[in-house]
Amino acid sequence: MALPWRLLTAARLAERSRGSICRFLSTSMLRPGKVVPFQLSDIGEGIRDVTVKEWFVKPGDQVSQFDKICEVQSDKASVEITSPYDGLVKVLHYNVDDVAMVGAALLDIEIEDDSKDVAKSSEKIQGDRDQVIDGSNKKKKKNEEESELQDNLAGKILVTPAVRRIAMENNVRLKDVTATGKDGRVLKEDVLAHLRKISATAEVQAEVSPNVMGRIVGLKGYSKHMWKTMTRSLSIPHFVYSDECQVDRVIQYRNEVKDSLKDEGVSLSLMPFFVKAASRALERCPELNAWLNEEEQTLRILDSHNIGIAMDTPEGLVVPNIKNVQNLSILAIARELNRLQELGRKSAIPLGDLTDTTFSLSNIGVVGGTYTKPVILPPQVIIGAFGRAQKVPRFNDAGNVIPAYVMSISWAADHRVLDGVTVARFSNLWKHYVENPMHLLIGS
Ligand code: COA
Repeated sequence: MALPWRLLTAARLAERSRGSICRFLSTSMLRPGKVVPFQLSDIGEGIRDVTVKEWFVKPGDQVSQFDKICEVQSDKASVEITSPYDGLVKVLHYNVDDVAMVGAALLDIEIEDDSKDVAKSSEKIQGDRDQVIDGSNKKKKKNEEESELQDNLAGKILVTPAVRRIAMENNVRLKDVTATGKDGRVLKEDVLAHLRKISATAEVQAEVSPNVMGRIVGLKGYSKHMWKTMTRSLSIPHFVYSDECQVDRVIQYRNEVKDSLKDEGVSLSLMPFFVKAASRALERCPELNAWLNEEEQTLRILDSHNIGIAMDTPEGLVVPNIKNVQNLSILAIARELNRLQELGRKSAIPLGDLTDTTFSLSNIGVVGGTYTKPVILPPQVIIGAFGRAQKVPRFNDAGNVIPAYVMSISWAADHRVLDGVTVARFSNLWKHYVENPMHLLIGS
């Protein structure tokens, strides 16, 4: 007879704390729990692997369903994974910063050896997957994963637990392995042969001259997303327009109020002014706040000014957005930027802050550099980037040389849909608002 899991656990805990064998229960009654792998389910959007950011549990910890297990970071966002089981954590298969493949075991949990519970838990895993797998792929993936899960649970793939474990520990999907055992059984040798095949392919790919030493660094986290977006942008004919603008007034205004705002917990940089100036200019040039559908050759002009801000984070470049900037004051924009920077520092920006960007800005001037050429993030049609504001000599109206803070601005626009004059007009408007920041203080 199987004891209820909680009773079994309580007995074990009591046993552990006393350091002796529990006398109330005959050990023959205690069936060892069943150790099940908890596989990383598909978190949608075509994500194939994630980086483990933080473990909330360790071997020996008791967990209940929905307890937080770990936080993982995909190339788009960070996600908290919760437990599908009540049980005891046995093994964590990854260290922090390791890359875990979707479908591989994240950790092993010992649960009551009751097949109904396993079935229940697998339903739960499937339920979790259903919530995250996105639209059109959902049904297909669900069927594939269900059959894979059922194959494994129902033993359709003939394999001993020991071989299954070797496969899991090496991220090998049993159905990819050529089985040579009786009745199609997957043998240990088959898994090892599969692994040899994979590593031979990897070695051929990684062959380098012995004179060149170094190390291979895999792309992970936000860098993977950058790879995809930048590759897509290669097909866009970029029209780049650059100008410079004087930022003395905006610096002065910011300096006047930044200390009192700091007391309120708000850090005000120049960025909120640049963001608001873009929104004001977009009100007059709405066709720049748009998404291009290349297939249909249509432009969707968007009402919300969801302005993306390129952000340098420990995980690499990421572009979260501030939503509905057209309705926000400079102070509200500063608060939002502070929030996103805080999350960015922890590489914990949620997906909601990364999606639906309609227009983007990049301030590389924080780091340095006078000029830069930004790269469009499709399906958006324009992006702006600033260099560093520097004190330089300029002529005033009377012809005298005066010191001025000057910053370069460069716009890269999709020349298939935006012409140079449109971009120049927009840039002039943006520059007008930055050079005359009092206009930004009127209205929202
Ligand atoms: N010129 C001169 N000084 C600048 C500046 C510029 N263009 N931009 C910012 N500064 C100043 C700020 O005013 C602030 O000054 P302070 O120390 O007196 O307060 C300081 O630099 C730091 O500002 P910070 O709060 O870090 O930045 P921000 O709000 O201006 O910008 C981000 C926020 C997110 C844009 C910025 O932190 C960032 O990550 N930039 C990198 C963007 C990037 O990677 N682009 C490349 C894409 S390929």
